[in-house]
Amino acid sequence: MLDPALPLVDANAEQLIQVFMALMINAADAMEHEGTITVRTRAGSSPHEQIIAEVIDEGPGIAGADLPKIFDPFFTTKAPGRGTGLGLSICYGIITDHGGRIEVDSAVGAGSTFRIFLTAMPAT
Ligand SMILES: Nc1ncnc2c1ncn2[C@@H]1O[C@H](COP(=O)(O)OP(=O)(O)OP(=O)(O)O)[C@@H](O)[C@H]1O
Ligand SMILES: [Mg+2]
Repeated sequence: MLDPALPLVDANAEQLIQVFMALMINAADAMEHEGTITVRTRAGSSPHEQIIAEVIDEGPGIAGADLPKIFDPFFTTKAPGRGTGLGLSICYGIITDHGGRIEVDSAVGAGSTFRIFLTAMPAT
């Protein structure tokens, strides 16, 4: 579900593609390739966060003890050779560089929602 009426974002398209690819690959890994990944956008209500984009999965969720660490470089729960633990730290860096914010809502057994807030380009 993508909101066609959203304002434009002043952003590096390749970098934002990298962010959404990393989130969707994580979602697919978490669900072991079975389940639905939802990507949706909508308007935000705060003046600096006009655009909200979410990547939602039906995977096992993230343990509370891991939640504060998932954006840290090299934090991974994947088997050696399967993940570097850099995906989310790169997402965090890119979104922060764009003046935005990324957060996660997740609980064990309840799936995960990664939510990105971005600022709209000023109207000309
Ligand atoms: N959608 C998700 N569901 C459950 N756990 C997740 C999800 N996304 C991230 N995680 C947890 O956060 C950790 C860090 O994610 P991150 O993308 O930074 O690294 P990675 O996927 O392990 O490796 P890489 O992205 O470098 O291949 C993952 O190892 C996993 O434990
Ligand atoms: Mg990853």
